[in-house]
Amino acid sequence: MLARIAGALPPVERAYALARFGVLRPRLLSVMDELLPSEGPLLDLGCGFGLWSAYFGATRPGRSVHGVDLSARRIALASRVAARLEVRATFEVGDARDAPLGDGYAGAYMLDVLHHVPADAHRPLLERVARALRPGGALVVKDITTSPRAGLWFTRALDRAMVGLDAPLAYRHHDEWARMLDGLGLSPRVVRVPDLLPFPHVVLVAHRR
Ligand SMILES: C[S@@+](CC[C@H](N)C(=O)[O-])C[C@H]1O[C@@H](n2cnc3c(N)ncnc32)[C@H](O)[C@@H]1O
Repeated sequence: MLARIAGALPPVERAYALARFGVLRPRLLSVMDELLPSEGPLLDLGCGFGLWSAYFGATRPGRSVHGVDLSARRIALASRVAARLEVRATFEVGDARDAPLGDGYAGAYMLDVLHHVPADAHRPLLERVARALRPGGALVVKDITTSPRAGLWFTRALDRAMVGLDAPLAYRHHDEWARMLDGLGLSPRVVRVPDLLPFPHVVLVAHRR
């Protein structure tokens, strides 16, 4: 399925998608797939090219996905990928910090998005996402934690090469994310997925109380 997703993109974005599939390896993907609700509407915030809207929409056909991203070009490509894979997905250009998110979602996810958002916007953004979930709904956050430090430096160097010197990069330790989610009425659990590559990946799943 990953090959079909990449194949639906133009060459440059296809190369990016293949690199993303190298970073988010099958084990990590299957963990997140299991943590997300198997049916119902899902919100994909910072959906980029819609790689994971297509992936999570295709693994469980009972899901429908709504993706939001800042980039109009990425949103156009996400719509194309979803149409090619025949997944139930809609997309819109927007800033997750202030776009209307709606409510009643069975689940929401943010994959390597939060550390691209300025630190002072983390809590208000997560508060909006929590409100968009139905009671019992699950938020899955995949991000980069701050330990081990060498892994963080490695990831920061790659992120800087991608986003340039001026864009915000705001990483937090997973315990800090967990405390923040707890304070927003969500019950968080941290899932560490060991990887051969030095990325300090962390996944948090948090259910709305
Ligand atoms: C590293 S990419 C990850 C994309 C996708 N989630 C993935 O895993 O391939 C980060 C994405 O977050 C988007 N993004 C960053 N800040 C955002 C915001 N405030 N609202 C919506 N999207 C945002 C960027 O445009 C970019 O597409």
